[in-house]
Parts: sequence; structure tokens; C-alpha cells
Amino acid sequence: MKQPNEIINDVLYFSEKKDNFSSNYLSVRVKEERILTDKEVELLPTTLKNNKNYTEWRLRKKSSKRFINYLANKKSSICVLDIGCGNGWFSNKIALLEHTIVDGIDVNQEELEQAARVFKKENLRFIYADLFESTSAFENKYDIVTLNASVQYFEDIEQLILVLKSFLKPQGEIHILDSPFYENSKIEAAKQRTKEYYKSLSAPEMSSFYYHHSKDTFKDATVLYSPKKSILERLFTPKDIPFYWIKIN
Ligand SMILES: C[S@@+](CC[C@H](N)C(=O)[O-])C[C@H]1O[C@@H](n2cnc3c(N)ncnc32)[C@H](O)[C@@H]1O
Repeated sequence: MKQPNEIINDVLYFSEKKDNFSSNYLSVRVKEERILTDKEVELLPTTLKNNKNYTEWRLRKKSSKRFINYLANKKSSICVLDIGCGNGWFSNKIALLEHTIVDGIDVNQEELEQAARVFKKENLRFIYADLFESTSAFENKYDIVTLNASVQYFEDIEQLILVLKSFLKPQGEIHILDSPFYENSKIEAAKQRTKEYYKSLSAPEMSSFYYHHSKDTFKDATVLYSPKKSILERLFTPKDIPFYWIKIN
């Protein structure tokens, strides 16, 4: 059993390890060919053309660049908490900005260890933590909290945002990017697609860990990027990420 605040393989443990979600999640990641070698992770969001998810990464490169430019324009030093950092590529991109101090947290030990192995920086830590259990460790510490492609794994968004707000310093910001939000009328169909998708990967249990959030949940947020809507826009401008980037204060 791991002790709280123990460091193992360069990952700091704030919570006890729980396998329920991560074993299911990892088996799907393997089938989706999303578990990459250390060398491949080091290069993300750039991938070779033979990467199965090459097209997706090309778009994620654009959205991460937009976000990094946004942070680069902040003048003072900033503490960032990256929730659901996975293999750490995005936390690392942020930590390349010299005026940042970054904590990447996740509940997926295998990819966290890879993150800690691949990305070693003075201003970057990788932490195993269930944020609902370890709240006091994070309270009032961060200027920016990011959820990049991870909000869909949290069931109760209102509770999540409430907890994340307690992690912010005054004037702090929560940013959500690269995640789908749905019109209310389209949620049921999306749930069905997700069920079928995980069934096709022989991992039906995973659909109980994946949540479809309504656009209405975020109606008070500031939209910093909207996906292209009209056919004309999509036809005549370069391809870009089909997800919103939003900021919550
Ligand atoms: C699709 S990956 C995104 C990884 C990375 N942020 C990126 O942009 O590529 C979602 C991550 O969220 C993590 N996650 C899911 N539930 C979580 C939770 N309760 N606390 C922290 N991380 C969680 C998963 O383990 C996974 O690594």
C-alpha cells in the first residue's frame, strides 16, 4: 500500500491507488493505439503520419498552441494544475513557458509514470491524486486549472467546478478544452454511440465512466474558441478542432 505523499518512480502520491477506472481505461487506450512509446510521447502533439490518431493530433496541436499563446501573454508567474494529464504532454508544453509552475494530476498510474519518466523539469510535477479526496493539498494554490480532454470522465460537473474553484487563487481561471459538449436533444444518441463504441472494443464497462455533458452546463462560461459551424466555413478555412475552448472564473 502506498503512503500519502510517497514518491514512487518520480510520481508523487496524494491518494491511495484505485484500479477500478484505470484498468478499464488502459485496456481501451491499448486497443485505440493511444499508448505510445516514450519517444513518441516526447514529441506530442507532433506525431508521425503512421500514428493511428495522426489527424486528431494535428488538430490538437492547433488547440494546444492557441492555449500556450494565451498563457505566454500572461506577464506574472503562474501556477497551473492540469487535471487528467495522462502521459503529460500538455503539462510539459505548459511547463516549457519559463514563468509557469505546473502540477499534472491523474489516476492512471501507468501513463503518469511515463509522464514523469519522459518529462523532467524543475517546474513540473506529476501527482497521483483523486482531486475529491485530496482537496486540502490543492486549495488556493493555482492561477490556472486545465481540463484537456478529461472533463468527460467526471460525472458531476457542478461539483467538479465547485471543487476546482476552491483550488484557485483570487482571479484564477479554469480552462476546458478538446472535449465534446452536446445539445440536450443529442445527448441520448451520443450515449448510445458511446455504448456501441466501447462494446465494439470489448470494453462495455467503460461506458459507465464516460459522461456526456450538455452545452447548457457551461452557458455562463467565456468562450475563447468555437468550432466552425457553417458548411462554407468548414469548406473554405483550414481544418481545426471541433470542440469549444472555454474559461470559467
Ligand atoms: C483522454 S485522457 C487526456 C490526457 C491529456 N490531458 C490529453 O490532453 O491528452 C483523459 C485522462 O483523464 C484521466 N482521468 C479520468 N478520471 C480522472 C479523475 N477522476 N481524476 C484525474 N484524472 C482522471 C484519465 O486517467 C486520462 O489520463
